Amino acid sequence: MKKSVVVLGTQWGDEGKGKIVDLLTERADAVVRYQGGHNAGHTLIINEQKTVLHLIPSGILRDGVKCYIGNGVVIEPTALIKEIKNLEASGVDVQSRLYISKAAPVIMPYHIKLDQLRELKKGKQAIGTTGRGIGPAYEDKVARRGIRIGDLLDPELLKDKLTQVLAYHNFVIEHFHQAEPLAFDEVYQTALQQADFLRGMCSDVTGQLHQHLANEDRLLMEGAQGTLLDIDHGTYPFVTSSNTTSGSAATGSGLGATQIDYVLGITKAYTTRVGGGPFPTELFDDDGAELAKRGVEFGATTGRPRRCGWLDLVALKRAVQVNGVTGLCVTKLDVLDTFETIKMCTSYGDQAFPESAQEWAQVKPIYEEFAGWQSSTKGLTEMADLPASAKALIAHIEQFTGAPVHMISTGPDRCENILLVDPMQ
Ligand code: IMP
Repeated sequence: MKKSVVVLGTQWGDEGKGKIVDLLTERADAVVRYQGGHNAGHTLIINEQKTVLHLIPSGILRDGVKCYIGNGVVIEPTALIKEIKNLEASGVDVQSRLYISKAAPVIMPYHIKLDQLRELKKGKQAIGTTGRGIGPAYEDKVARRGIRIGDLLDPELLKDKLTQVLAYHNFVIEHFHQAEPLAFDEVYQTALQQADFLRGMCSDVTGQLHQHLANEDRLLMEGAQGTLLDIDHGTYPFVTSSNTTSGSAATGSGLGATQIDYVLGITKAYTTRVGGGPFPTELFDDDGAELAKRGVEFGATTGRPRRCGWLDLVALKRAVQVNGVTGLCVTKLDVLDTFETIKMCTSYGDQAFPESAQEWAQVKPIYEEFAGWQSSTKGLTEMADLPASAKALIAHIEQFTGAPVHMISTGPDRCENILLVDPMQ
């Protein structure tokens, strides 16, 4: 039996992790978010009802499952409180099941302002961030001047820290960006009110997770974004500001690296990306438009249209390696149902694996073509029912990446899956 299972994205995010986490939580005792922030948008469709979660682990929709936000997550209190209240308004019990690490950095209003001002200044070179203050909050963490959730709970300590850090950021806002500085009192009073709301949910998450392990409970570690947005292994600088790869399931929660039993890598059957940056297999033709339309490819957080392209097996293989993927889950296979021919990139020619945005931009993808099946796979739950050419496509993904496909998702609903190997068993 697996005690801790990591679910993460192998592309540029939006691979459909939320649905898979929700599915697997049926057999989990606790679900943990360990990196990223409310830049993530995890869409769940249950009985045709859509819920988008940004910060709260996807396990929240299963009664009795405990949900943890680990130290590696950057938390914007306004967004978190809104999400809690929205879920509670629709009858989900949140406050008795959600635990927030006191060591998690807080996204403060100046982080959001700086994120947006910087993007404006960059103009055409903008990263296309979600504008939520994620990068500046992680910078403050690494610079050792960040405010953590635990600091919010101590008014005097908060006053001290905020006085110093706000003076620093206001200087940059005023003199580098020529924008309005933030007023201390407003930021401070808001933070105190938020702290009152969150206080009862704040705890030693690492300690609780180890207690779960001692009880032989099962943990599901829910990644956000995807491998190619990783601050080290992604298409730098067009990346997010956290490690999205499997190592951060340990550092962002306090589990030991040896306590992770299984890594499930989620990949779409094609590729999408939101925001700027290189994307070798991007399509600008009718096939791209068809993927966008059939896949309903709009960002869950910002509503921006996603760029679409063919599956990139070279990048996927690298993602399998850097994450130590145990098994893959291929999502949105049904989106390919109408295509006569399906392509997958199987080589970057004689170019070495790119290590900078410039090298990524030079990639000339070489494709292999596969026959489409042109019949509906929507909602299929048995491998035996898949058309032969869909089976061949899956077999090629396995053979190229060296990772077995353990799950296939054939539609947005919780029940539309082919489960070949249960990651939780
Ligand atoms: P940031 O994380 O807001 O700083 O944005 C940095 C880059 O990551 C941008 O290209 C965003 O579009 C992208 N990004 C951040 N979060 C997600 C996500 O959850 N899904 C897909 N892309 C994301």
